[in-house]
Parts: sequence; structure tokens; C-alpha cells
Amino acid sequence: ILAGGEAHAAEALPPAGPRRAKDPVPPAFTTAMPVPTVLRPLSSTGAVDCYELTIRRSTAEILPGIATDVLTYGGHFPGPVIHARSGRRVLVRQHNDLGMPVTVHLHGGNVPSASDGNPMDVFAPGTARTYVYANRQPHASLWFHDHAHHMEAEHVYRGLSGTYLLTDDLEQSLPLPKGRYDVPITLRDARFDERGQLAYTMSDRNRTTVLANGRPTPYFEVAARKYRFRLLNGSNLRLFALSLSDGSPLTQIASDGGLLERPVAVPVLTLSPGERADVVVDFSRHTVGTRLVLTNTGPGRPEQVGKVLAFDVVRTADDPSSVPEVLRTLRPAAALPKAAVTRDIELSMDEDGRPDPRGFINGRMYDPDRVDTTVAFGSSEVWNVTNSNKRAPHNFHLHLVQFRVLERGGRPAGPTETGLKDTVRVMPGETVKLHVTFDGYRGDYVYHCHMLDHSAMGMMATFRVR
Ligand code: C2O
Ligand code: CU
Repeated sequence: ILAGGEAHAAEALPPAGPRRAKDPVPPAFTTAMPVPTVLRPLSSTGAVDCYELTIRRSTAEILPGIATDVLTYGGHFPGPVIHARSGRRVLVRQHNDLGMPVTVHLHGGNVPSASDGNPMDVFAPGTARTYVYANRQPHASLWFHDHAHHMEAEHVYRGLSGTYLLTDDLEQSLPLPKGRYDVPITLRDARFDERGQLAYTMSDRNRTTVLANGRPTPYFEVAARKYRFRLLNGSNLRLFALSLSDGSPLTQIASDGGLLERPVAVPVLTLSPGERADVVVDFSRHTVGTRLVLTNTGPGRPEQVGKVLAFDVVRTADDPSSVPEVLRTLRPAAALPKAAVTRDIELSMDEDGRPDPRGFINGRMYDPDRVDTTVAFGSSEVWNVTNSNKRAPHNFHLHLVQFRVLERGGRPAGPTETGLKDTVRVMPGETVKLHVTFDGYRGDYVYHCHMLDHSAMGMMATFRVR
């Protein structure tokens, strides 16, 4: 058979090694979903926890047997988890070993502008920056990610995001699932080339591999009891519409800014990029050996993006946890002064198919030297945010604050959106009405579409609190 000699044999045989396989993405449910690494503080003194991270290139085994180049906080992919407590300060010293400027934004954090990770407030390669998070806000599932203007989309896509779980006495006093039964899950999409490397182009419609905690459509072994999953949509563009394959609803207990007032049964949970939702799933309804699939009916072809993650029930376990009927009390969202300032915000982008589409807020692209909106410290305002595009969905994120969604499309916001939010989806032609209170700090911050390819195109603006 080998008579043709070496050269011939080399042609006839498939190239060796998985790096050259045609489709490096394995079939669904063949890799295990990892739980992201929890960082330990370098020091914990008085009321301060100090962390140190190096922002650097690394490789991760996202696809079996393949080393994929990624950008990381401290070498971790998926990104690491920082645990914080309200009233306790966290310092994170970030070393930039990436070879290009970076900035780190704590998404959902009420922080001084010097630690906010403004898109222009980058620090150079070879230098370090200490971010100070006072955690003067209630519990919430936050996250941190790169925000270097024009580069944020690609940096986050390649791995620069992490989880920041802020808790407080109220949350701790509740009998919700805790410890190993409280699992952060970051969902996102990606496109891999034939060598299994992450391919990035702006506005790519072919990011059709769904990753859960950095693995393609993995499985996760669970006990037959309740779990709390802290879901984050870490995609650049993809909207997820999540449901369970047994038709039972997800029990949503929290949104971006922490617990809802009451748990809500959601048949389909919609999450746009940057949004978070904590859900409780009770696997005790199922016998050991059952597989439950978290499915996605959001945009995209179901055979490509329809399966997200399988929960395999592999054992029984005691379950002292429960989901209280009342989780917290929030001030009524509608307690607005009559004379509150009302602003109209219009999100749009080029839809004429030009190769380099531009993003706009109120008709203007982001200009870091322009302050678009000035608000009074401590004031409450009504922001009507409209997506004036015909096809492109957008969403809207404000730094510094957690807001309330009053209305969606002229109707009162649904129960999953009546908690504290920092990111809200805005579908084509739709208007959402927000109640925003500018408290905590004075300074310059940004608001933008959190479909990061869109903010990178200019769909971003600056507001000043003074
Ligand atoms: Cu997570 Cu300015 O964004
Ligand atoms: Cu957008």
C-alpha cells in the first residue's frame, strides 16, 4: 500500500493531529462544563481584600485536544470569580502584560469614575493599575471586562471577562442554594477556524458555537436537588432565549442588580449581551440518570445554536435550601418626582449593508471629548430609550447606576424586569422607559449598546454627574 513512497502516503493519509480536523468543534454534550476558578485575595486585612491579576495571553483547551489562544485575567479561561461583600473594600491590581492598552470595567458597579474603566482611561502595556471597589451597594451578580475603546469587542470575545459576585447580609440570610450548589455560568457564542482558533471579525453572523463557561455545548453533572445558576450573557451580539427541555419553567430570582422582590416562573428567559439572571432549577423532580437540556430559541439556526448545556442528574443529595416567596423589598419604581427630567435616547446603526457600519446615539458617534448628557447628582430622571433600527436588536447599558424599567413598548415592564437593572434589551422599533437615579459618585461615565461590536462602532456616549 505504501509502495508509492512517502510523499504519496502523505497525500493519501489525512493530516495527523486534531488541529487540522475539518470541524474541531465536538458534538454536543461531550465535554464537561467547568466551574470557574474562585480567586483568593492576596491579603485580607481589616475591611479590605486585595487581589492581583496579570492580563495576559494564554491558551485554553476549549475544544478537546486543541490549545486555543485566548486573552485572560491571570491565565483563567473562563474568566475567574471574585467574591465580594457589601461594605468591604476590594482592591484589584491589574498588570497589563497584553502588549496593548487595556482598561477594566466593573459592569454594574457603583464606583468612582477613576476605577470605572472608562473606554479612554486605558493603561499601557508593562504598567499596572489598581482598581478600588468600595462595594457601597447591595448584593448583585456583577462582572468585569475589558473596555478599551474600539478593542473592547475583540478583547472580550477572546476572553477578557470575569465574574464578580457581591453579596450582603440580606442575601446571606435567605435559604437559597449556596456553595457548590450556586454556580456562575457565562454563556456566549464564538466562531472557531479549522485549527480551532477563535476567529474574530466585527458583526460576524457565523459565531454559531455556543460556549457555557468556555466549553462548547457541554454537560454538567448535578445532584437531584435545587441549584442556583448565575447566568450571564457574555456574548458580543447574541441574544439567548433559554428554556428547559422538560417544559418546566425556570425560577428566576435575580436580575442584573440582585434579587427580584419575588421569584418569577419564566418559561423562556431572554438575555441580551451583558444581562444577568439568577435562576433556581430543582432537579429533585427527576430521577438519577435523567438529562435535562437548556435550550435556546433565540436568533439563529436551532441545529447550530439551539442547544446550550445538558444537566445530567447523577446522584441524590439532601436539600435544605428553599426559595422564599419574598426575596427582598425594593422601593417602588414609580416613586418619581412629578417634575423629573425626561430624556429621549435613540440607538441606531447603519443598516444599508456598508462594510464598515457606524453606530450612533441620538445621531452621533462616540466622541470621548464630548459630554452628551449632564445630570444632577442625586437626581432621578426618566430616559426613553428607542431602537430606531428596522432589523438590528440593541440593548442599553449605563455605567455607575442600577435603574428600573418602567415600561416596555408602552406597557408596564414584566415581572423579570422590575428589579434593579443595568442593561436592558431594546428590540427594533421598540422604546423602553427607564427610571434612573444618579447616586453614589460624581464624574464622567458612559452609556452604550452592550452588543460590544456596536459600541466599538460608536454606539456610545458620555454622561456627566455633577
Ligand atoms: Cu459591560 Cu460599558 O460595559
Ligand atoms: Cu446595538
